[in-house]
Amino acid sequence: MTINFEGQVAIVTGAGNGLGRSHALALAERGAKVVVNDLGGARDGSGASSDAAMEVVRLIEEKGGEAFAHGANVAKFDEVEDMVKQTMEKWGRLDILINNAGILRDKSFTKMDLADFQLVMDVHLMGTVNCTKAVWNIMREQNYGRIVVTSSSSGMYGNFGQSNYGAAKMAVLGFMNTLVLEGAKNDIRVNALAPTAGTRMTEDLIPAEIYQLMTAESVTAGALALCHKDAPNRMILCAGAGGYASTRLFETNGIFLPQAQQTPENVIAQWKTICDINNQSELETGGKQTEKFLTKAITYVQSEQ
Ligand code: NAI
Repeated sequence: MTINFEGQVAIVTGAGNGLGRSHALALAERGAKVVVNDLGGARDGSGASSDAAMEVVRLIEEKGGEAFAHGANVAKFDEVEDMVKQTMEKWGRLDILINNAGILRDKSFTKMDLADFQLVMDVHLMGTVNCTKAVWNIMREQNYGRIVVTSSSSGMYGNFGQSNYGAAKMAVLGFMNTLVLEGAKNDIRVNALAPTAGTRMTEDLIPAEIYQLMTAESVTAGALALCHKDAPNRMILCAGAGGYASTRLFETNGIFLPQAQQTPENVIAQWKTICDINNQSELETGGKQTEKFLTKAITYVQSEQ
């Protein structure tokens, strides 16, 4: 099976550098028309320039592909709407959105200004929300859409100095979980990528010899696997240095305590059983958790009657 994107239109945010650049080039190489979005600021989000995005467009066109650059700041909905409007005017459809744009404002929580917390949330979380909102009805109406959100191990597992970034990166997974449910009937599939790669975002954190193993292209292979016609739905794909894995959220079966026994002491006494991973399950919706607890409670009440 060869994956191709002939006849499809993709928006890749933050596509002037690093992972987004690599995703955009690979999508174009396989036939997609690509909107190369990039604000062109520095790693901390300051400044703006169209140079990087224009260079990616040039590379795509050089190989016979079609692309245009758009400098929308993903944190600003009106600018994102303009980008989507221009895409529809030019190509008349929109099949793929890869939410990739991002910045860093690392500091320990003790030293972090709330403004830096807010900005990182605005770019990563609201940027993802804005772009998805702007394409959502188009995808619904055409009964087809593939959306990728970019998460991070920092969000899923934590990383010192990244409370803002980690919060935003976990938030996009919550966003995905509900979109998966709401988009299903219109064949809109939403997946998450949790990358690790040598880019300007990580260049001062990774030694040079290791940096070379952590190519953007190795992550892009995973990104394309998440946004083609037969893509999965709700997958969290972790990708880096040629490694591919999936993070999954399971809930233990847990215990049931009758009302008279619902005390903190009894909860603590049962930690081991509450956390026992035998019989854990992956829940499809939040409601399934309520259902699980109520089934146990009702069974107990009936057994007492
Ligand atoms: P990068 O800094 O090389 O590229 C990010 C791009 O996003 C830049 O070209 C920048 O101009 C653009 N951008 C930033 N703010 C923007 C805004 N408001 N509107 C439009 N464009 C904007 O970073 P990299 O490493 O390629 O990161 C891409 C994504 O992958 C980010 O979401 C990042 O958080 C995520 N990620 C990267 C990891 C890594 O190891 N490189 C690890 C985990 C997640």
